[in-house]
Amino acid sequence: MNPPGPHVRICFVCLGNICRSPTAEAVMRALVGRSGLERAIEIDSAGTGDWHAGEPPDERATAAGKRRGVSLGGEARQFRKADFDRFDYVVGMDTENGRSLEKLAKDLSAREKISLLRRYERPDPKNIDVPDPYYGGDAGFDEVIDICERGCAGLLAFIRERHGL
Ligand code: 4NP
Repeated sequence: MNPPGPHVRICFVCLGNICRSPTAEAVMRALVGRSGLERAIEIDSAGTGDWHAGEPPDERATAAGKRRGVSLGGEARQFRKADFDRFDYVVGMDTENGRSLEKLAKDLSAREKISLLRRYERPDPKNIDVPDPYYGGDAGFDEVIDICERGCAGLLAFIRERHGL
């Protein structure tokens, strides 16, 4: 059993919630599970747009996950203002997602929860964005997994340190 302690809630956010953020969610879930922290850290994802609401992850993202032993799931949904009250970390996949989230954030406490995934990546990436793979080929989806693995490992290390987990 995990010791009682801080409950940390993370929501990954991209545009459609069918490619990048469900990938980050699945990668983080696997890392958190391997660390035995699944009771302490809650993970979700959402999109700034609502075009794909109710849909499962893009099958190309699911296939890329499967190639790497990561299982994508859930249904797409749009990120709402009220989500700032439900989550401690609202982690955008690219600069545009970050800007959309800033517009939705009604106060400083909400704004302070926003960050971008690649901020946690080590070594420091040249590009702060997780490239949108939607209009490209399979290699783009594999690249998203690579980036999510590095970014989520950094995010988990940051959270463990900050929350004493
Ligand atoms: P995601 O990818 O934001 O990583 O889920 C996209 C999904 C759908 C669209 C764009 C990006 N779209 O234009 O429908």
